[in-house]
Amino acid sequence: MKRYHVTTFGCQMNAHDSERIKGMLEELGLGEAPSQEQADVLVLNTCTIREKPDTRFAAHMGNAAKLKRERPGTVVAVGGCYAEAQRERLFALYPAVDVAFGPGTISHLGEWLGAGGEGIARGSFGTGEERAFAAKLPLHRERRFQAWVQVSMGCNSVCSYCIVPAVRGREISRRPGEVVGEVGRLAAEGVREVTLLGQNVNSYGRDVGSSFAELLRAVDEVDGIERIRFTSPHPKDFRRDVIAAMAECPAVCEHAHLPLQSGSSRVLKAMRRTYSRDRYLRLVDELRSAIPDLALTTDIIVGFPGETEEDFRETLEAVEDVRFDGAFTFVYSPRAGTEAAAMREQVADDVKRDRIERLVEVVQRVAAEQNTSRLGMIEQVLVEGPSRTEPDLLRGRTRRNTTVNFSGDAVPGDLVDVEIAHATSTTLRGTRLAAAAA
Ligand code: 5AD
Ligand code: SF4
Repeated sequence: MKRYHVTTFGCQMNAHDSERIKGMLEELGLGEAPSQEQADVLVLNTCTIREKPDTRFAAHMGNAAKLKRERPGTVVAVGGCYAEAQRERLFALYPAVDVAFGPGTISHLGEWLGAGGEGIARGSFGTGEERAFAAKLPLHRERRFQAWVQVSMGCNSVCSYCIVPAVRGREISRRPGEVVGEVGRLAAEGVREVTLLGQNVNSYGRDVGSSFAELLRAVDEVDGIERIRFTSPHPKDFRRDVIAAMAECPAVCEHAHLPLQSGSSRVLKAMRRTYSRDRYLRLVDELRSAIPDLALTTDIIVGFPGETEEDFRETLEAVEDVRFDGAFTFVYSPRAGTEAAAMREQVADDVKRDRIERLVEVVQRVAAEQNTSRLGMIEQVLVEGPSRTEPDLLRGRTRRNTTVNFSGDAVPGDLVDVEIAHATSTTLRGTRLAAAAA
């Protein structure tokens, strides 16, 4: 049996695309290989949000070229956002690529790999004009009790630093009936937690006569779904109806990942985020008064062109003011073709490095304080498997999306109560409480 290997480089959407790619290759009769070295078909599902994944991809291509020299039959297929962004140059840059496809053309991969027996169509490429949801393709799910569900593709925002709108195109929503239908099928297979995915989930639905609030309420009605998460919302589109749906739907988790990007209104304006620091803080207040136990996480960029020490301090202050439970922190990375990459006042690398270090310190301290405030509480945990760091313990996540390592018996997929006894900036530790008598 021929075997495939898929490497995921990017976000949850990218990881979910990898599940579709795997499902499709399995339907073509391929089995999964444990490593790239052992694969006949090597798929690299790329990302291009920052320079780092581009560099990582280049390293993987070096390895792929070497594998092809050793075993000439090996097929190298490159998908995802980098492939789409570089589609005019990809084959010239990397002659070892046999097949390339974009995030919207995954469904063609089978044909291009020569599923019909015609052999490999080298150089095949799906262009950005023809885009389709991969939802109809078979799915190889990484976890039995948790699933991602794509609600939209593309992005209509114009954030000046971001390459995604250029790569993934205009936003298109999936029909609500299709989304809810998929969630229903997943629930029937035993899934208890779904994460709704879109580049900007809360602008969902405008093109199909629906809204994200309606979608949340409809998914909440699906029997067997105990937890609903979503990522990522844009603060500019986080309206009252979505806050109300979050507060009123029992399955919607008490967590919002709300990308702030910067705490300086001046920088936010240059980023074209269309909200100010004050508006963001007001939204946080509204969310917290509707959903008292809400966890808030965020994305922050340092070193955006023109960012001064004073702007940066406002970002540090915002982290302290909001008291984020966690944050992904990034050094600004110029992306060719974006508005910000052409701005003149690029920040020096040593300044960027200094700022990211100071930011990470504050983020970790605040997150540790937030987690410490959970000591003594009883958290509902969805069990995922053994702890990654302490083999005697089990691991799962709270509704607020914090990882918990705990002692006691349980199997993956169980919802159990854990009393919290220890906290770090990223994890909690505790003991499972005995199940209540029926
Ligand atoms: N440089 C650094 N970080 C970026 N992000 C998006 N584009 C860039 C860039 N050019 C970050 C944003 C976004 C997250 C997914 O990646 O914080 O929310
Ligand atoms: Fe995800 Fe953006 Fe990377 Fe594409 S470029 S994989 S959308 S993070």
